[in-house]
Parts: sequence; C-alpha cells; structure tokens
Amino acid sequence: MATKREIVFYLRNIKNGKVRLSIDILNDEGDKIGVLRPVMTREVADNSEIVSFITKWREHYKENFLTQFKVTDDGTKNWLKNQIIRRDDKILFLVETIDGKLLGHEGVIFFENNDSSCELDNLVKSADCKIPGIMTYAEKSLIKWLFGCLGMEKITLRVFSDNLKTQALHHRCGFLKTGEIGLKKEIGKELVRYVEMTETDKQTADRVLFKMEFKK
Ligand SMILES: CC(C)(COP(=O)(O)OP(=O)(O)OC[C@H]1O[C@@H](n2cnc3c(N)ncnc32)[C@H](O)[C@@H]1OP(=O)(O)O)[C@@H](O)C(=O)NCCC(=O)NCCS
Repeated sequence: MATKREIVFYLRNIKNGKVRLSIDILNDEGDKIGVLRPVMTREVADNSEIVSFITKWREHYKENFLTQFKVTDDGTKNWLKNQIIRRDDKILFLVETIDGKLLGHEGVIFFENNDSSCELDNLVKSADCKIPGIMTYAEKSLIKWLFGCLGMEKITLRVFSDNLKTQALHHRCGFLKTGEIGLKKEIGKELVRYVEMTETDKQTADRVLFKMEFKK
C-alpha cells in the first residue's frame, strides 16, 4: 500500500500537472469508452466550462446533497480552489468521452479514517448525457485505480436512502450497504443542511443516509 505521504505527494503532482493521469473507462468487453481526468490547478482559474458544468448540475441535483445553497460559478470556483485543489486529501475526476466531451464527475476523499480506506463523493452525470452505463463503468474504473494503483483496501460512501438510482449504480459496482445514519434538517438563512444524528435519536430523523462499502 502507498503511504499517506506518497499519496499526498502523488495527488499534488497530479493536480499541478507534474504527473499526467488519465484513467481509461473500459466497458465489459475491455473497449475504451471514455476517460476519468483529474481537475487540475490551472483549469480552476481558466476553464469556465468545467466550472459552469459543475455549477449547473450541483444546482439541478441539489436535493441529493447534504447541503443546499444558492449555487453560483464563483462559489464553484472557490470550492474547487479551496476544497479540491488545495486539499491534500481530495481529488475530483471529470468523466469525459474519448473526444473530450464532459459528461459528469466523481470525487475521492482520502485519510478520513487514517487507514487504507477512502470515500467516494460528488457523483454526478449530466442529465443531457444519454450514454447508458457510462457512469457505472467510470466508477468501476476508478475503483480499479484506487485498489490497484493506490493500494486502498476499502472504499466507502454515503447516499440518501431515497436516492435509488445512485444506490443501484453503486450496487452494480460492488458496494454493499453496511448501515444507516439518521439526519436532522437544519434551515439557515442561506443554507439548508442535513446533520448526522446519534444512533438513539434516529427515530426522529428527517432523512436517512445509507452507508455503503466495498472491500478489496
Ligand atoms: C447517480 C447517477 C450518476 C447515475 O446515473 P445513471 O444514468 O443511472 O448511471 P449510468 O451512466 O451508469 O447508467 C446506468 C443506466 O444505464 C443502464 N445500463 C444499460 N447498459 C448498462 C451497462 N452495460 N452497465 C451499466 N448500466 C447499464 C442501467 O440499467 C441504468 O439505467 P436504469 O437506471 O434505467 O436502470 C445520476 O443519476 C446522477 O447524476 N444523479 C444525480 C446526482 C446524485 O444523486 N449524485 C449522488 C449524490 S453525491
């Protein structure tokens, strides 16, 4: 397994362009049908196509996220800069066709449990994309990279109990449900968020998160 230091160094070099990483998305026949490509430092400043893509679909699918707020391109740019590029423990992959058409994205968070596990988040497919199965194959290819190249032993994720399409995708990729977390809705002036509850308070939950995991 790669050490924490090695992974941090690798992620930094991927984002700053010193290491070129592009993960092939392969279908069941082994044909290349797309690529997973990390969002890089220079793109956050320059590439408004990526920023507006993320903004558009984050707004469109806001009900499926733990926090809901007014989504803007400036907010997305700040989020990419501060919560993806500058963070040693995070990376966001764009899902693209072979000829570079942006279809979606999926992120990875490392070191949450200080072990050789990581968490998938931010899975989104553009509603304009009609290619069946592309996100399933993208996630399968991402899992292969995490287990095979980074030496992860376990991958986890959390998904709303009412988000059946996303659960179905994770099931297809090999994830199994391991638990549930009750959530309380908190309504602020500019932000609605769902906060995790303790086990004993679960009966009064406003919504429920499923925990899923995939062991190597
Ligand atoms: C989650 C999400 C990416 C799944 O999209 P998707 O279109 O179901 O995913 P895929 O590209 O893998 O396509 C799967 C579909 O193609 C079908 N399919 C056909 N051939 C397939 C194949 N060879 N392999 C896999 N799926 C195939 C599947 O049956 C499925 O269709 P269905 O839902 O009608 O059964 C999408 O619904 C989304 O962006 N949701 C909003 C964001 C969200 O909720 N994110 C999670 C919170 S972070």
